[in-house]
Amino acid sequence: MPNYECIKVENENRVTTVTLNRPDKRNAMSPQLNDEMLDALIRLGADPDTDVLVLTGEGDAFTAGMDLKEYFRGTEHDPVLSERAKWTMREWSYTRLRFFPRVTIAAVNGWCFGGGFMPLVSCDLAIAADEAQFGLSEVNWGILPGGLVTKDVTLALGYRDAMYYALTGKTFGGQRAKEIGLVNDSVPRAELGEAVRELTDTLLKLNPQTLRSTKEALRHSADMNYEQSADYLAAKSAQLGSRDPEKGRLKGLSQFLDTKEFKPGLAAYRRDAADA
Ligand code: COA
Repeated sequence: MPNYECIKVENENRVTTVTLNRPDKRNAMSPQLNDEMLDALIRLGADPDTDVLVLTGEGDAFTAGMDLKEYFRGTEHDPVLSERAKWTMREWSYTRLRFFPRVTIAAVNGWCFGGGFMPLVSCDLAIAADEAQFGLSEVNWGILPGGLVTKDVTLALGYRDAMYYALTGKTFGGQRAKEIGLVNDSVPRAELGEAVRELTDTLLKLNPQTLRSTKEALRHSADMNYEQSADYLAAKSAQLGSRDPEKGRLKGLSQFLDTKEFKPGLAAYRRDAADA
């Protein structure tokens, strides 16, 4: 990995943690941070040592959103720079993160404002610290939640909550984020690392290609009608069969039906067993 200045990338036991690393600026997303995130996600998508990706922030913030100085003011007099900055932001936080070929978890350690909702919602799963503060602050300074924030909020929240938080700019904590379905869980900040580890341990027991196909299937079928979904999911299942070097389906069937060593309703098949 290159020596990034605005992010940190660390790998331990097949889990890669990417940390937004501008704590003095509350991890506000500057054009340089966005360039580095795009570069890192392209590399990590092809990294054989990454089975789960965790996105978090250094210090007191997950991210204070778009960098008001460098992303907005710093590009507004240069249309090309501005367009490039917008494209890079959308490319990493929407396309690359949402369709990252491994499961992604947002570990929301602190402030999460405005543009920060894009990477948050793009992650497949999210755990917050109770102490984290979320806010659609755009309305407070005279803009609407742009980029894809509004779209993400309508996806992640119910209609009334989306309207309420976008129209008032009021902040809310981790427990409230859990209550309204923006995150899967919220725990005291001192326990956030352990909660993320428990989740990654669960995921690491599962077949990574199965997880990849499952997240892709959920993301794409949401926008299809029933006939399209049925056809797409049949094709997707066939794709999984051919791109899974572990041959998970055959192992699972054999361990349940032949050797009777596991119950699929209760746990994962033994990934280290010999081929069925
Ligand atoms: N863009 C650029 N710089 C930001 C920033 C942002 N979104 N958020 C924080 N910073 C900078 C501050 O300007 C300050 O820089 P300085 O030390 O050079 O003056 C530094 O980060 C610390 O910010 P500060 O406001 O002093 O920290 P705080 O802990 O008291 O408050 C926040 C934290 C997140 C509540 C506050 O910084 C804030 O409201 N940020 C903007 C949030 C927002 O509306 N984001 C939406 C953007 S789409």
